[in-house]
Amino acid sequence: MLQIREQVNLKPYNTFGIEATATYFTEINSVSDFLELIKNPVYQNSEKLIIGGGSNLLFTKNFKGLVIKNNLKGIAVVFENENEVIVKASAGEVWHNFVMWCIDKNFSGLENLSLIPGCVGASPMQNIGAYGVEIKDVFEELEAYHMTSGEKKTFKNSDCQFGYRESVFKREYKNQFFIASVSFRLKKQAKVNTSYGAINSELQNMNIAQPTIRDVSNAVIHIRQSKLPDPKETGNAGSFFKNPEVSAQKHDELKSKFETLAAYPLANRNYKLAAGWLIEQCGLKGYEHKGAAVHTKQALVLINKNNATGNSVFELSAYVMKQVFEKFGVNLEREVNII
Ligand code: FAD
Ligand code: EPU
Repeated sequence: MLQIREQVNLKPYNTFGIEATATYFTEINSVSDFLELIKNPVYQNSEKLIIGGGSNLLFTKNFKGLVIKNNLKGIAVVFENENEVIVKASAGEVWHNFVMWCIDKNFSGLENLSLIPGCVGASPMQNIGAYGVEIKDVFEELEAYHMTSGEKKTFKNSDCQFGYRESVFKREYKNQFFIASVSFRLKKQAKVNTSYGAINSELQNMNIAQPTIRDVSNAVIHIRQSKLPDPKETGNAGSFFKNPEVSAQKHDELKSKFETLAAYPLANRNYKLAAGWLIEQCGLKGYEHKGAAVHTKQALVLINKNNATGNSVFELSAYVMKQVFEKFGVNLEREVNII
């Protein structure tokens, strides 16, 4: 039975731990709940926000609309041959639990994405990525429902227009679809990807020469735990900004001034700069503003250090962007969804 509650505190529903109130709040456990919900006048007359784990959101004000917490559960193999499987996961499955499920079955492809907070349904939104893998590398398709008509639509990989922390769902189709499930094409014969330098050094520390997918997962978990704050202890939403892309000319100019510049060449001849490095070089590690702070172990992460409001985190992010621009002439773009 659908229940719409009023004036609900959103603090437990966002990993920044920001105080904000939703005028209306509901939880859905099935597609039929969603299809029932869209007939409800509260739904029809309100602004809507679907949430999973709330790990990529910053509430800067109360949400004067309907927050829909998606709890759809279920994981199943929907296709299988000698070499591959397609696994379909419902949107409300916790991402890390789903990755562990795949590793338990020895299905490879997602192990580098271990320990990313949040739910399966949000994973295509920004094409989540870490340690040399993005979901687009193994994404098969997703099933979504139009937020107004309730019509079902299947999106294949190319329909999603995946890019670095980007998809069609953050642009043209923003707020237009409820993602109900996501399917991934995974390998049965485990093939590990240790191209990201930090994984190799971690595996060496662990004395592992022939890593299994579980070893890679453990290495990733260990690296992540060493530098990213655990949202259960310190409010945060992971990297607050994207790593910026600059032209080769801009890169060369910066490199001549800043010898240790952290930069990676891209296939299009541009460079990706490590925003964490840029922020650290501005002397901002540990910088505090009204209870918000730049994380001391990873400058790309902003934290809720001491009862920060969403606005103070936002103000801090604007200050960081200004400092980086003044020192390097590089514009940072926020990765976190600002509400
Ligand atoms: P939410 O924050 O609840 O929602 C995010 C966006 O997706 C919102 O716009 C929301 O409206 C929309 N949305 C959510 N579910 C649905 C749905 N079913 N249908 C339609 N729209 C939906 N991200 C990375 O890419 N790589 C990382 O390495 C990484 N590390 C992180 C580390 C930490 C400590 C934290 C806190 C975050 C990190 N993130 C990372 C960011 C975050 O975990 C991901 O973006 C994750 O996919 C968000 O999932 P969520 O369920 O919490 O989404
Ligand atoms: N660096 C610094 N100082 C810092 C932070 C980083 O100099 O304070 C330098 C590091 O020394 C390294 C480089 O920046 O040379 C890259 O750092 P790291 O490997 O920690 O990765 P990142 O670029 O900061 C990105 C993603 C993370 C993802 C990791 C691992 C973005 C915006 N962030 O971080 O994703 O987990 O790589 O692949 O692309 C997220 O999106 O929320 C997120 C955590």
